[in-house]
Amino acid sequence: MNDPFKENGCMPHRAAVTGWGWYSPTQVLSNHDLEKLVDTNDAWITSRTGIRERRIAAAGETTSSMATIAARQALAEAELQPDELDLIICATTTPDQLIPATACLIQRNLGAHRAGAFDLNTACTGFIYGLATGAQFIQGGGAKRILVVAGETLSRFMNWEDRSTCILFGDGAAAVVLEATTQQSGVLSTVLGSRGDIEQMLTIEAGGCARPASTETIAQKAHCVRMRGNEIFKMAVRNMAQSAQQALAKAGLTTNDIRAVIPHQANERILIATRDAIGISEDRMFMNIDRHGNTGASSIPIALGEFLQSTPVDVGDHLLLVSFGGGLTWGAAVLRWADIPAVKLERAAAQRAKLALIG
Ligand code: UT7
Repeated sequence: MNDPFKENGCMPHRAAVTGWGWYSPTQVLSNHDLEKLVDTNDAWITSRTGIRERRIAAAGETTSSMATIAARQALAEAELQPDELDLIICATTTPDQLIPATACLIQRNLGAHRAGAFDLNTACTGFIYGLATGAQFIQGGGAKRILVVAGETLSRFMNWEDRSTCILFGDGAAAVVLEATTQQSGVLSTVLGSRGDIEQMLTIEAGGCARPASTETIAQKAHCVRMRGNEIFKMAVRNMAQSAQQALAKAGLTTNDIRAVIPHQANERILIATRDAIGISEDRMFMNIDRHGNTGASSIPIALGEFLQSTPVDVGDHLLLVSFGGGLTWGAAVLRWADIPAVKLERAAAQRAKLALIG
């Protein structure tokens, strides 16, 4: 097969993470607070899920406002201006509104004048799908710098009388900058999967064209998350373990090569079962579910941000990201940590070459 990069006289590019940021609302909802709302208790929630508290967006906060804060941090870390972005991909299940896409609101807030912007909805797997899409744009030469951002305001879609769901979810946002590099680092492999035939396991039924908003849908709380938790649980363990193994094989690596697994924080028991299934030691799987609950698409990049804050990562270290969510969807990605200062030097050299051409 012809190599389009070689034909155009270009070096092949990989997509490296050069910036990251996250935002959690300040309002904390503890298990003890939930005891006052529904028939539950701290011991049940902690032992069945690992969650102790979650963050809830304040009245004026939205998915786009939280995502904008996270995006600004990611851009600052990457030392990029908003107008240097080519594309903004926003993974969310809880957009501010149906039109415009939340990505467009983030683009406006940032002043990212040159960027295309679109949303992507694969529920809790949204960040992996966003990362895979962004990496393809960079590898195909269609973009050089992409903001992959995830945000969820799930608290607005909870039935606060349903103890099987309202204890699980939280709000938040996080972002990474993906940037073209000639290093053999960045996104090494991605695996995506779906089962739309069993979509009813996790839904928000109303508010779309199939069941538009009506007094009936509101009375039935059909705009809220409904879930068959027990069935999802088993599917989640099986598919997270399988896709993690597939992503490793695609990257030509084994679990021994992995510095840390950053999984979707769905349920502590799901994560422990996945950890055992793929044979990763306890100290190499990052968990923050106790403080955040399940923040949907934001869960992996929030965890990544907290992981990077607490753990030094060396150039060449491998991270395995893995997720499962509504759709049903699942996916995994392997990242090789890039030499970020060197990516920034590559960027500066490319800009100088461009200016010289213009001049
Ligand atoms: O983000 C990806 C998608 N989501 C997930 O991955 C979530 C996956 N599922 C789960 O995390 C778990 O299935 C849950 C945490 C939702 C539920 O835990 P479980 O161990 O699967 O419990 P269960 O649904 O089998 O229910 C066991 C019992 C039931 O009572 P009975 O019928 O045995 O008397 C429930 O009514 O626990 C009861 N229960 C509760 N009790 C106290 C359910 N929710 C609660 C609660 N507090 N909040």
